[in-house]
Amino acid sequence: MGIIIRPESLEHTFVPDRLPAREELRYQLLSKIMDFFSKQSGAGFKGIYIYGGVGSGKTVLSRRVAMDLKAKFGDALDICYVNCRFSRRVYRVLAQIASQISPSLPRRGLSKDEFLELIFLATMERTKKLLVILDEIDSLFWGAEGDKATDFLYALSRYVERTPSGDLRVAALSISRSEEVIHKWLDPATRASFIHEKIFMKPYNPNELLEILKYRVELAFKPNSISDENIRYLANFVANQASGNARIAIDLLRLSGEIAEQQRASEIKPEHIRVAIEEYALLPTLDLEKLMGLELHKLLVLLSAVRALKNSDKAYVTKAIAQQHYREICAEYNEKPRKSTQIWRYLKEIHHELSGIVELEVSGKNQRGRSTRILINAPLEVFEKSIMKVLRMKLRQENL
Ligand SMILES: Nc1ncnc2c1ncn2[C@@H]1O[C@H](COP(=O)(O)OP(=O)(O)O)[C@@H](O)[C@H]1O
Ligand SMILES: [Mg+2]
Repeated sequence: MGIIIRPESLEHTFVPDRLPAREELRYQLLSKIMDFFSKQSGAGFKGIYIYGGVGSGKTVLSRRVAMDLKAKFGDALDICYVNCRFSRRVYRVLAQIASQISPSLPRRGLSKDEFLELIFLATMERTKKLLVILDEIDSLFWGAEGDKATDFLYALSRYVERTPSGDLRVAALSISRSEEVIHKWLDPATRASFIHEKIFMKPYNPNELLEILKYRVELAFKPNSISDENIRYLANFVANQASGNARIAIDLLRLSGEIAEQQRASEIKPEHIRVAIEEYALLPTLDLEKLMGLELHKLLVLLSAVRALKNSDKAYVTKAIAQQHYREICAEYNEKPRKSTQIWRYLKEIHHELSGIVELEVSGKNQRGRSTRILINAPLEVFEKSIMKVLRMKLRQENL
């Protein structure tokens, strides 16, 4: 049997019980919406706008909160979730909302205003409480529908005020990558009535990604399938190289697990993660030409780091250990080793020149002071071969 025992919990449609790093936000949002719907009487509209980069957890937060609300209110609240990117047109968004409230509502043959009216009337007959989640709302503004979308949002937010509607309460949670929709598309009147509150979701930092990944590991994998240190490697990588996108973090975790399984390993090792990073094609490809551009001793230093990592089974190697390998490699290539300060300078330059692939970390202080760690985010075997090939070409050139 493989190490992934519950693959479904690595799907992006899966909504976990907990949202590490977003629990506080979850309960804040939940209580805001609950307060709004629990008022004793009176009609009203509440608009909340959530924005943040891809993979910052916007969709999963809204789905989690929707489930929490369902658990509290049961059938006493109507909740609709629409991903506007799939619907694209305002009319289809309305049709989606209608079908989620009641399958018996008509889907076509109405004007947009009539449609909206029908949705509200149906809600009034049912629960008198409606939460609409409009995910990726920015996609409604991409095409020629921009004005229609603005009209729709205005109508949605003003309906309860303009129509005698008893105790009807409507909340809209709209979600987007940026604030652009608000500033660029909504006129001041619509903005004021459609958005009462804005919530920004910051990109995840390494520690937050670590918590998110640890939890997914617990859910999806057999015990002891990956060490905390290696989860940390993945979390740091995604924070540094993929803007803290949790979607990429989870994809890489799944991919690493699959690669480990293919190799019949009982545990995810750094090399599985490196292969996953390569397969995911996040980083610029490492072509020989780029390596040819590095001077001889930089290549030797790079080769030392690769060899040291191959020996270590860890995601990183300290500069001190790499330096030991460097001396051996210099002997192998009949080169006089450079001094420590020079090697440090090379490393920093390589870090820039092969950005993303070679990373340097200054680790916390230990008994022997700070130590520098070198990480390589590419499969080592292939990388080593490429470096050796380039070294051969370089040395041949020099000898001509
Ligand atoms: N705080 C979190 N806890 C657990 N999983 C998360 C968290 N944030 C994001 N995820 C997961 O990361 C992936 C991307 O999140 P998603 O909500 O789709 O991001 P967004 O909608 O902002 O692009 C999903 O699989 C989601 O379940
Ligand atoms: Mg989303």
